Amino acid sequence: MARSQWGSRFGFILAAAGSAVGLGAVWKFPYVTATNGGGVFLFIYLAISLTLGLVLMVTEWALGRAAQSGPVGVFKRATKNGASPAWALIGYGTILTCFLILSFYCVVGGWTVAYFLKSLGAGGPLLTPDAEVLKAQFDAFVGNPLWSSLSFVTFAALTTWIVVGGVSKGIETLSKYLMPVLFLLMLVLIVRGLTLPGATDGLLYYLRPDLSKITGKMLVDAMGLSLFSLSLGMGIMVTYGSYITSETKLVRSSLWVIFLAVTTCFLAGLMVLPPVFAFGFSPTTGPGLTMVTMPAVFAHLPAGSMFAMAFFFLLLVAALTSSVSILEVIVSFLIDEFGWSRSKSAWLTVAAFCVTGLGACLSQDGGWLGGATVFGKNLFNLYDYTTSNLLMPLGELALAIFAGWVAWPLIETQVGASDSRSVLMRAMRVFLRFVLPVLIVIVMISGL
Ligand code: PHE
Repeated sequence: MARSQWGSRFGFILAAAGSAVGLGAVWKFPYVTATNGGGVFLFIYLAISLTLGLVLMVTEWALGRAAQSGPVGVFKRATKNGASPAWALIGYGTILTCFLILSFYCVVGGWTVAYFLKSLGAGGPLLTPDAEVLKAQFDAFVGNPLWSSLSFVTFAALTTWIVVGGVSKGIETLSKYLMPVLFLLMLVLIVRGLTLPGATDGLLYYLRPDLSKITGKMLVDAMGLSLFSLSLGMGIMVTYGSYITSETKLVRSSLWVIFLAVTTCFLAGLMVLPPVFAFGFSPTTGPGLTMVTMPAVFAHLPAGSMFAMAFFFLLLVAALTSSVSILEVIVSFLIDEFGWSRSKSAWLTVAAFCVTGLGACLSQDGGWLGGATVFGKNLFNLYDYTTSNLLMPLGELALAIFAGWVAWPLIETQVGASDSRSVLMRAMRVFLRFVLPVLIVIVMISGL
């Protein structure tokens, strides 16, 4: 059966950008940047995304387009052609990574559901300029076993319903119209934030690089965040690549996707950090930073509750287009591997990650597992750390070696067929064979 293809290059770029742009930009980027000292982190993140990110995105697409399958199929095919079966581990590894990511992504997705409901007036007033009250509200919510679990399950169910119902296309169309609205809304919020008294400190913190703050941990965080925010390292872009037409130019398309994802991250930082300083929040607040800061900004806007409603709704849609792409990788793997139906695959997956995910939900301070730690981290942070800072970089390390040394002729044909040959190809080969592996290893070691 012929594999379905994206209707147009534009549609493909939007779908890939839909997966990339999500909570990674609006939730994760601002708080990770803030805890890593601002300025320098931003520039390191940008540098990594535009080099490592670019090469890896093109490579993942090229592999998927060549094999006409997702990550597991890519390696199976290579094995058939004589490569060592050990490579298949990368494919299975990506499935595990996806599973762990979903386990905490849906927790944060649940926060957006809850904050959207709050913005509609449920559970008491949300808008107040009082930093203390907002922080206490957030802590009380994530520490409440019932509410945090319910919102987690709601978000997980929405994700599954979209994947099973085959309405992914509908969500994509919806996000095509809504994402520009999210951009515009962020611009308005940025202007409001920047005009608050005291915001300049935040702006300087965000944009002025202080080289003395560079540490090994920062480099690993930047690499992990870059991979996370570009949806790299877990087979998603491989799967997407299998649907691209043979004429689509890979490099140009990936520049577009990276531009959109990185710009959203940059704007999210610009939206969150100046108010953090204006209202006297701590930049090291942690994962709750966006959720506790933005209501204070809404409180300073006319019709603030309308802004709050729009913001959390759009964030929810952006989160769903990403979570759907993660679940889709696991579901298509189960369908291909075991011949299960789509709905059986999807519902069994949710049942499984509800167990791991609820663990993450309840691991916040105040929850039933609050205070319990593994390797010094609660479950939520453990999943987040293990995926972004270990599994995704390791997956990409293996992928770069595989692509550079084992599957290079394939990549060369793929990229050469649609994009220009020569200089680009030579640079890519050197990158995959030497630069990326060395870089990833150095960064990971410096993080230890
Ligand atoms: N890139 C998505 C985001 O920023 C998250 C994601 C990670 C999606 C990995 C798919 C794969 O929200």
